[in-house]
Amino acid sequence: MWRWTGGHGHRMGSSATPDLQLLAPEARFVQPLRLPGAEGLLAEIELKQPLQLIAQATTQALFPGAPTQLWAYATQVNARAVINPLLRARRGDTIEVGLDNRLAEATTIHWHGLSIDEANDGSGLHPVEAGTQRRYRLRIDNRAGLYWYHAHPHGRTGVQLQRGLAGLLLIEDAEELALRQRLGMRWGERDLPLMIADKQVGADNAIVYKDGADDWIGNRVLVNWTPEPYLEVIPAWYRFRLANVANARMLRAAFIQGERALTMQLIGTDGGLLERAWPVEDVFLAPAQRIDVLVDFSALKPGERVMLRSLDFVAMENEDESGAFLPDPMADHPGAAAMGEPLDLMEVRVIECATDKRPPAHLPDLSAISSIGPLPDTTDWPVRALRLRMDEEGRWFINDWNFHLSGHEPAFSIRRGSREVWEIRNSMTSMPHPIHLHGFQFRILSRAISPPDIRGRQVAAGGLNPQDLGWSDTVVVWPGEVVRLAIDFAQPFSGTQRYMLHCHNLEHEDMGMMLTFGVTD
Ligand code: C2O
Ligand code: CU
Repeated sequence: MWRWTGGHGHRMGSSATPDLQLLAPEARFVQPLRLPGAEGLLAEIELKQPLQLIAQATTQALFPGAPTQLWAYATQVNARAVINPLLRARRGDTIEVGLDNRLAEATTIHWHGLSIDEANDGSGLHPVEAGTQRRYRLRIDNRAGLYWYHAHPHGRTGVQLQRGLAGLLLIEDAEELALRQRLGMRWGERDLPLMIADKQVGADNAIVYKDGADDWIGNRVLVNWTPEPYLEVIPAWYRFRLANVANARMLRAAFIQGERALTMQLIGTDGGLLERAWPVEDVFLAPAQRIDVLVDFSALKPGERVMLRSLDFVAMENEDESGAFLPDPMADHPGAAAMGEPLDLMEVRVIECATDKRPPAHLPDLSAISSIGPLPDTTDWPVRALRLRMDEEGRWFINDWNFHLSGHEPAFSIRRGSREVWEIRNSMTSMPHPIHLHGFQFRILSRAISPPDIRGRQVAAGGLNPQDLGWSDTVVVWPGEVVRLAIDFAQPFSGTQRYMLHCHNLEHEDMGMMLTFGVTD
């Protein structure tokens, strides 16, 4: 029998990030966090007119010393170079983004989390070949929230994201703008995106990737494309929109002061705002997931420091029937070893407030910030069972489908407008898999046999934790766990629309832990 332990359990090998440990402490947290601006990486663009993005190699100064070559989505705005822009759009708007592929291989722009049709979804079913162009037309139907876009070519997603082809998409609506007003935190000032990725960086500052790799874990952390950054804050509440855009590294994010985790208020997840704020001390954030949190620095004094840290987890212990301890079969697994180790992401430095008008130390009432409705009654909904597993040769499967072995034709078809419960079961001797569904946001109905560390966070029936209580497009299924989702396949499109279901550990995806499903009339 498998048993999971939380942070105090047996810690996995810590040799997986040698360069991080070799970095002298004084060489870390010396660069200010990059914020959305007018040019360069993370420049902000409001999508009002059609936008043309060029997928190309570009050289950027990321680390001290030699510049780093990225593959990125580039454009010019007012004669300024913009790289992987943070796009802003309004719910209800229709926007157009062109892709001009000047890489030497096929790529796409997948709009992660958006409810759009197959042709504009940007999955690998519609590659944009090297030297060609295409136009995505997006009608933004999604709730306000932080979404993202990234390359999605079959078998090459891992390498293309590791090299840089990803950006953020912020969707706004009236509810979000009203909340922002009430919070009194201006976007870009006390309301900030934190786009977190780890990269394997070589001695010459080059980003390294090995084709066919398993669980690509980096040795450097980039937050908003800044290595091990610091952020200066005044003593006040801040709002952070965290997005894990790493290939494979799972995070357990917490703001740590000394030994103590600051309480955060979790107000949103993948698909936007929750019904109410939930106090949390740390949140698991798997690749592709996003969270929206409020953090209180108002009681801190200038000079004090807080660390945004990923706490350790995924300590897996194996017991036989008698409770005797067996060797951990995952201990030699390079990915698993690094996935749960503690990692410092960003230093927060408290500075004096420049004006006398200190922002209020209290938040407005956040007990009703959004209305997302109760979980649907799914008693009559058909149940689709999906099992995550690995075969003897180390290949990942969803039921009997492996994208490479089973082909790209839809594994199953769903009638448009029908509703289904998907019951996803992970095997005991497995890893946590962040499972992502294209085209539809879903609700999480329950978790069973969750690891104790997750179980301890239950706040709602069905073993749900605060992060499970909103709309999601990516859900972690822990080893041995069964997660049930409610999915409504209503959509305003016709004909057959094909989408992907896959693990967002990009190496698992590229190795075929993905299937196509169709939605038909
Ligand atoms: Cu974020 Cu299928 O992808
Ligand atoms: Cu996986």
